[in-house]
Amino acid sequence: MTFVVTENCIKCKFTDCVDVCPVDCFHEGPNFLVIDPDECIDCTLCEPECPAEAIFAEDEVPEGMENFIELNAELSQKWPSITEVKDPLPDADEWNGKSGKLQYLEK
Ligand code: SF4
Ligand code: F3S
Repeated sequence: MTFVVTENCIKCKFTDCVDVCPVDCFHEGPNFLVIDPDECIDCTLCEPECPAEAIFAEDEVPEGMENFIELNAELSQKWPSITEVKDPLPDADEWNGKSGKLQYLEK
């Protein structure tokens, strides 16, 4: 199994998740992070750290967000690794919790 970053990370990118991952399996795009499913060891540490509650175990991804499982797998192969926390995106608090953010995903 793996953990999966879902829609509410988009335009927030708080990066608290990166700090706790023991295997450095997060990858960073312009306004979203993903988890490499081949590297994730299911330690569960990142899930409670995300202020946007965007991280779920693969088998607990909310209905309608199943497409993020494939997106994490795909984009983690393309984007560089991120291993250190950085500032969230400028309007992160404003975007936290908004729906329909997939349209803003920058690849
Ligand atoms: Fe990293 Fe653990 Fe989260 Fe997987 S579950 S992404 S290994 S912190
Ligand atoms: Fe995104 Fe949450 Fe990490 S907003 S960058 S998954 S802490």
